[in-house]
Amino acid sequence: EKSERTERIEAALSELGDDVVILGHNYQRREIVEHADFVGDSYQLSKEAAEADAEYVIFGGVTFMAESADIITDDDQTVILPSMEASCPMAGMAEALQVDAAWAEITDAAPDEEIIPITYMNSYADLKAFCASQGGLVCTSSNAHRAFEYAFEKGDKVLFLPDKHLGENTAYRLGMEDAIAKWDPWDPEGKDADEVAESDIILWDGYCQVHERFRVEHIDDIRTEHPDANVVVHPECRREVVEAADVVGSTATICETVENADPGEQWAIGTEIHLTNHLQRWHPEVEVLPLCGDACMDCNAMRQIDPNYLTWVLEELVEGRERNVIEVAPEEKELAEVALDRMLEI
Ligand code: 13P
Ligand code: SF4
Repeated sequence: EKSERTERIEAALSELGDDVVILGHNYQRREIVEHADFVGDSYQLSKEAAEADAEYVIFGGVTFMAESADIITDDDQTVILPSMEASCPMAGMAEALQVDAAWAEITDAAPDEEIIPITYMNSYADLKAFCASQGGLVCTSSNAHRAFEYAFEKGDKVLFLPDKHLGENTAYRLGMEDAIAKWDPWDPEGKDADEVAESDIILWDGYCQVHERFRVEHIDDIRTEHPDANVVVHPECRREVVEAADVVGSTATICETVENADPGEQWAIGTEIHLTNHLQRWHPEVEVLPLCGDACMDCNAMRQIDPNYLTWVLEELVEGRERNVIEVAPEEKELAEVALDRMLEI
């Protein structure tokens, strides 16, 4: 039987018809994902946003994703985020002002070389704009290696922000693990100009507080308890966790891995718990295990998108009121779009 809330959401959606499209990230709660027109990883959602015709794009995700949707959609389309509290902590770890200051130090350390900044999608629009202004671009976890290749065709070094783990895992994927320097903007000892001068890849010291909690011991435990289990993890996990896993990839890759598994196979999933739960529901023929047992790997930014807020923004739209509109400042929008377009082209 349908809940009253589901009925209200459905009623609002049928009233709004083609005016509205709902995009949902793989980490969203079940009640959001069930109402989404499209569910996917950050890259797929940015492509869906670019192709959307609806007047309103309701984003089930976090602020930086909704910002990117606003940048990519046409000016007469409006992006709505059901909760303004849904901010990814990692995106806050590289603020444009702080990066600007660090950029002066980093470029001073290697004055004769061209450094290309790449920012992970998990960043705010002003940082995306900064990267474009220096010849750089955006990437997601599904195309970071290609963004690095693009950057090395144009320049000599890469500054990667904000996620040091995705950066390190990408360097390994490209066989460049010996060329890494770390840049910790919060620690005077954590930034070494000589190291920058000698390295090809400079990693900003950001991280995801959900994925950093996975440890190699979790993989050891799974392999002891389920000797036939395979392990798939997200590249925001620590290097040693990625090394101990069988497969690494974006949330879309994690979905495909389980989708393509044979019935009866066991897969332990090293990512946000809502996706693990969805995969258990979507693929009951596969034995889907959370990598970290009962220690809930829950992203509290994603969890801010409560189905009651979805109901509210939809019902307000029916009444002609736009709530929680995400609008990137025009002066940042143009350059941030360049950074996103470069990604969509590679
Ligand atoms: P994906 O690009 O793999 O969907 O990841 C986004 C994210 O926030 C992971 O923590
Ligand atoms: Fe940000 Fe991590 Fe949550 Fe992804 S899982 S939105 S990176 S805090």
